[in-house]
Amino acid sequence: MTSLIQYNTFGIDAKAIAIEHFTSVDDVATLLTKHSKQRILIVGSGSNILFTNDFNGIILVSDNKSITSCTDGNSILVRCGAGVLWDDFVKHCVEHNWQGAENLSLIPGTCGASAVQNIGAYGVEAKDLIESVEAVERTTLKTVTLNANDLQYGYRTSRFKTDWADKYVIISVTYRLNVNGTINLSYRGLKEMFDEQKRLHPTENDLTLVREAIIRVRQSKLPDVKAIGSAGSFFMNPAVARHKADELISLYPDMPHFDNADGSVKIPAAWLIEHTGWKGYRNGDAGVYEKQPLVLVNYGKATGKDITELAQKIQDSVKDKFGIELKTEVIYV
Ligand code: EPU
Repeated sequence: MTSLIQYNTFGIDAKAIAIEHFTSVDDVATLLTKHSKQRILIVGSGSNILFTNDFNGIILVSDNKSITSCTDGNSILVRCGAGVLWDDFVKHCVEHNWQGAENLSLIPGTCGASAVQNIGAYGVEAKDLIESVEAVERTTLKTVTLNANDLQYGYRTSRFKTDWADKYVIISVTYRLNVNGTINLSYRGLKEMFDEQKRLHPTENDLTLVREAIIRVRQSKLPDVKAIGSAGSFFMNPAVARHKADELISLYPDMPHFDNADGSVKIPAAWLIEHTGWKGYRNGDAGVYEKQPLVLVNYGKATGKDITELAQKIQDSVKDKFGIELKTEVIYV
């Protein structure tokens, strides 16, 4: 068995039978044939996974780090190998002044994972950029191009997590960026954050300034996964029915809440966790990050079980106090 400690940002020392790397479609076909009797798990940077046990199967990792681009009218199509680090893609776009990805600066993970998870921050989601996904179908070994419109994107979800789970191995993702795009500071508090940093005025249309400001905000709120094990937001922000939100607002007038397009109301999970007293909590090496309670952390030798037990306690308290079920964004393996 091989240790997965380098393959998950939580730094959990779980093991798998073997770790295999691929670059081309042919590599994928060879590996799927070789391991046809084994369970397969595809891992990007392992920044959204919690290993709760050893994985009795084969881990596949993309080493395809190619970035190519072509123009298409007023936009640019950028094709990234599944193994390109998401932030290398964002940096590449900002350096070329291709607008669209800058608000998603410094999100950990790979481009392959971005198409599965629909990562998002500061009012932008990967789905806003994704044009198509090239993948190998696991049963037939055929290469297909999947159009973004068929991928059923939603908040931190896609068809790759529902009826197409385990159906494909992603080879590359193609994104559409704007050549003369305007920066997007519409996310609540974003303009003010820039003003506080005294670095950017909303009138400036400078992608590098946006990227730098977002990086500073993220670094001030979120742990550096190289120093403290974590997987970013552990829980998703819950959406509740309007009547439920009204009930809670009358009890907790200070509770932040945001209207969703579908009529539901988003309540920040961070607020719910803070107001059940978990912010900064630590038991052994498993804890709740003191600056952003949405993030669970491994201070050293926590096991997957330590983290899931803590997560369950938080879910139970939030359910007891607010009647809201927190769902995990992190995938348990
Ligand atoms: N809040 C608290 N206490 C805290 C921190 C935040 O009550 O200690 C409340 C505040 O009211 C704040 C609200 O939570 O206004 C929302 O906080 P924030 O804007 O930091 O974002 P978030 O909703 O907690 C989401 C994403 C993050 C993303 C940020 C910024 C999810 C699950 N998380 O967090 O994504 O960076 O918005 O757009 O949607 C990730 O997925 O790994 C991730 C970090």
